[in-house]
Amino acid sequence: MLDYSKYQIAAADPEPSSMIETFRAIGYSLQTAVADIIDNSISANAKNIWIDFEWKGAATWLSIKDDGIGMSSDQIIQAMRPGSKNPNEERSVKDLGRFGLGLKTASFSQCRKLSVVSKRTDTTPSFWTWDLDFVKDSHAWNLIQYLPDQFNNSLKDMPSGTVIIWNDLDRLVKNLNENDKNALDKFMKEMDDVKKHLAMVFHRFIESKRVKLIFQNREIEPWDPFLIDHSATQKFPEDPLLNNKIRVRGFVLPHKSKLTEQVFEVAKGTKGWNAQQGFYIYRNERLLVAGDWLGMFRKEEHYKLARIQIDLPNNMDAEWQIDIKKSIARPPFSLTDQLKAYAVSVRNQAVEVYRHKGKILQRKFANVQFQPVWLEKIRHGKRFFEVNREHPVIQSLINSSDINQLLRLIEETVPVPLITIRESEQPELQGQPFEESDQEPVKKLMKEMYHQLITNGRSDEQAKSIILNIEPFNLYPHFAEYLN
Ligand SMILES: Nc1ncnc2c1ncn2[C@@H]1O[C@H](COP(=O)(O)OP(=O)(O)OP(=O)(O)O)[C@@H](O)[C@H]1O
Ligand SMILES: [Mg+2]
Repeated sequence: MLDYSKYQIAAADPEPSSMIETFRAIGYSLQTAVADIIDNSISANAKNIWIDFEWKGAATWLSIKDDGIGMSSDQIIQAMRPGSKNPNEERSVKDLGRFGLGLKTASFSQCRKLSVVSKRTDTTPSFWTWDLDFVKDSHAWNLIQYLPDQFNNSLKDMPSGTVIIWNDLDRLVKNLNENDKNALDKFMKEMDDVKKHLAMVFHRFIESKRVKLIFQNREIEPWDPFLIDHSATQKFPEDPLLNNKIRVRGFVLPHKSKLTEQVFEVAKGTKGWNAQQGFYIYRNERLLVAGDWLGMFRKEEHYKLARIQIDLPNNMDAEWQIDIKKSIARPPFSLTDQLKAYAVSVRNQAVEVYRHKGKILQRKFANVQFQPVWLEKIRHGKRFFEVNREHPVIQSLINSSDINQLLRLIEETVPVPLITIRESEQPELQGQPFEESDQEPVKKLMKEMYHQLITNGRSDEQAKSIILNIEPFNLYPHFAEYLN
């Protein structure tokens, strides 16, 4: 440790106006910003949270009110300080916070005026406002004791609670005219997205009736990514990892044919069926990541019914690289193999369900022997696709020896989807031509070809090098010794 008394020092405080711009650039959307404010309400034990707004063009405001434990004047000031808590501090097990930043960063990402009015039981409300223009002009981090008029009585009938108010929403409504119909439509669409986002992020709190979210006087219905109550949803056994600190549970959602049009539409979520597949990571039951294979697999159509829940506690944030916005989580390296293995089994089942429609049809005509062009075969543990010699068309073509038509049929029916699925499921199972089978036919073909080349005047060496450049003979260079 240095002996600090020996050195000259110089103040180098962050410059407020540039620091503000940094805070504003963390990358929140309106949806993630509102969710971050609601995290605080839930951590403060709120049972009811009201999200309200009023369209007034550039003067539009938005507020989030809760009936949680509230804050005293000093507590508000502390809460409004950027970095009000140390991220390394241990938190109560239900706390949704981590960085001591969310209230400020989420708010500043959307507005230039953040007001907080709050009261604890048996006290009168206190309020403080961050006005970014004032900070910028005065070059100092000073709050002002200001509250927009219409919020004077907002906590009147409540024993305790807090209201967060956003004014001067420059990222959303800057310079917009109240009578601009187009702008209003766009704004309402944004707000509808906020509602959907909250229904998803907090669905477990809403489902278990711990919290009510009231959006412009209407309760938000939860959006359950797993359709848990649907009888056709397949639920995998829970896998506890790290001594039960983390819990993983897979779901395969029902095939489209088992869902009503409406349920199918709702379950596709905000991003659509394909995009919504993957892991759903929850921290203290609050959703951080909604549908992401975390770099383990690509999102593909035939896996779209697979959704896997991961539950984390709030004391593994560093290992899982949780970010300020609570929208990123990455598993530690030591867990990826286990998570991947679990996901593979859920994904395999999801493919089965995805193909269900075809299977039903097959079952309907079960007494008629189905004759595919391609057969999937396993030889000595390796997978091969064989042309079905009993297929009526193939049989008759073999007999009539119209080889061109036969080749055409084969080309047209290569089972690409099946091969793709198998290849991405278990690439190590994919066999090479003639692998693990009787290789005499290859040898025989190679010999015939060799003799033909020699008869046509090629040297031994030329003939061999031509043969070893032909598929699949190239895979059997060791047979060259049998060629002369
Ligand atoms: N609605 C609220 N009711 C009561 N206290 C609140 C409320 N909102 C914020 N606070 C207090 O203000 C503090 C700072 O909130 P802020 O969101 O900035 O950080 P955090 O929640 O601690 O961590 P994170 O940056 O991860 O969100 C909280 O820890 C809490 O003590
Ligand atoms: Mg917070």
